[in-house]
Formats: sequence, C-alpha cells, structure tokens
Amino acid sequence: MVILLHIFDPQMVTIIDGKSLAQKLRRKIKEEVSKYLDSGNRAPHLAAILVGEDGASRTYVASKERDCDFVGFDSTVHRLPVDTSENELLDLIDSINSNDNIDGLIVQLPLPKHMDTSKVTDAIAPKIDVDGFHPVNVGRLTKNEDTYISATPFGIIMMLEEYGIETIGKHCVVIGRSNIVGRPMSILMSRGGYPGDSTVTICHRNTENLISHTSVADIVIVAVGIPHFLKGDMVKKGAVVIDVGITRVDADNAKGYELRGDADFNSLVNKCTAITPVPGGVGPMTRYGLLHNTLKSYKRKLNL
Ligand code: GUN
Repeated sequence: MVILLHIFDPQMVTIIDGKSLAQKLRRKIKEEVSKYLDSGNRAPHLAAILVGEDGASRTYVASKERDCDFVGFDSTVHRLPVDTSENELLDLIDSINSNDNIDGLIVQLPLPKHMDTSKVTDAIAPKIDVDGFHPVNVGRLTKNEDTYISATPFGIIMMLEEYGIETIGKHCVVIGRSNIVGRPMSILMSRGGYPGDSTVTICHRNTENLISHTSVADIVIVAVGIPHFLKGDMVKKGAVVIDVGITRVDADNAKGYELRGDADFNSLVNKCTAITPVPGGVGPMTRYGLLHNTLKSYKRKLNL
C-alpha cells in the first residue's frame, strides 16, 4: 500500500546519483582511451600542482590521480612546499605549458595567502587550462563558444541532462558567485538551448531577503561552502536542489571528519522533485569533468 501511494505521488523525489553517472561516464572514457592506445597513440596526460599541505586539497589531488589511473591517463603531480615563491610556481607552469606531451594542467586551489590566484591561473596556457579558469576560456564561455567548461559546472550540466531536469523557461537561483562554480553556472543556465534557457538569479552574501528568491525558484544551485545552509523552508514544493558544498566537519569516525553539503538534505528531500546528495552527487561529477576536459585537449592536440 505504501508503495502504491509513492507511485502515484507526483512529488516523488529523485535522488540524483552523481556517483553512478560518473562511473558510467568514466568507463566510456576508459574505452575511448584504450582505442587510442591500441592505435599506437600516447596516453592523455594531466599535470597537477599542489602547493602546501591543505588536507582537503591533498585528498582531491589524490583522487584526481586515481581517476587518471582508472581511465588510462598518465598523470604527474607536483607537490610543492607551502613556502614556494610565486615566481617558482610561475616558472614551473611555464615549463609545463611548453611541454607538448602534457594535455591538461591544473593548479589546485586555494593557494597559500602569499600567492595571487588570478596571476597564477592566468599563467596557464589556455589550450591546456582544463579547469577553464583562464580569462580566454571564461570569455569563450560567456560568448557561448567552444571552451573548457570548469569541471563542477560541467558536471552539473551533465547531471541535469542525464536526469532530464526541465530547465527551459524555469527560474534558476544560483547561491554563490565564485569564479569556480557560481558565476560560470549562472552563465550556463542562462545560455540558449538545453540544459539552459533558464531565467537566472544569482545570489550572494549581500543579497537581501534570500528566501524571497529561493522560495520562488524551480532550481536552486547552492555553492556557498556553509554546511546545511539551504533548509527545507527556503524552497518551494517541487524544487530541484543541486548541492555543490563539500565541507569537512569533525566526526567521531576513523577519518575524524565527515562531508557535509550546503543543503540540509533531510529537511529538503520531501519537498523536492530532485536533489543531489553529499557525498555521491556533484563531487564525483566534478572529477569526471576534469577527465572530460583533459581528453578533449588531448584529442585536439593529436587531431583525433
Ligand atoms: N579547488 C576547489 N575546486 C577546484 C577546482 O575545480 N579546480 C582547482 N584547480 N582547484 C579547486
């Protein structure tokens, strides 16, 4: 009886399974790479630079290395001490830019405080800027030209498409205006075609009466880095919630921490038509996005 009630409930929620989708898409990349290798080509190669000892960044870079390994990419990680000078870092970027066998380069953010993040990311050659952070690639994104779309926004677009989430003519509220997520996300959701063509509102720390925006949104994308920031009473019934947050909070387990999203899943889940969990939602799709962009650069370089 309970099952029947669920079948006929128009508000039945879809939990968007980013983990499974990313696995499926990663396998596709692996198959494609294996064809290129069989035809005698070199493997795609991603280089990453990690400066300092930030625990979360170390974990992210290690998982990027594992992902490369899984799909058959080569990877090189340059782990630099926290007191590396900005010039040393820029020299390393220059040398990687001119290495023709490297298809993608990322500098893991955040950087130590003595470094100028824009100066560093602007030093990466646009053609291997698989994070899509260089002004040339950001410019192309805003003009709807072919580019590297940053991994998280790209992963979210792929999820919306795979799950057939309606976006055309819908009201999308993006909370957070970072260069990595909020801003590119707002551009993608407002561009013509599917997934996109939404009416987009971008909210941030100075937005007055945030709830007046979120409570009328069909889609809420939350990227503020504050655990459980978005609560059930802030969205309308039937909303789609995409949770970009992954904050480590202390926990009494073997790792000593657990991951919390920006959305308070428990209070939202019964109000939404679709929601991404944390972990297992946006995170794995971000990792997929980087592989996708690296493969794209490789294929461009080798004319495949
Ligand atoms: N730090 C948090 N997210 C990202 C990302 O997508 N790319 C890089 N390079 N650093 C990050």
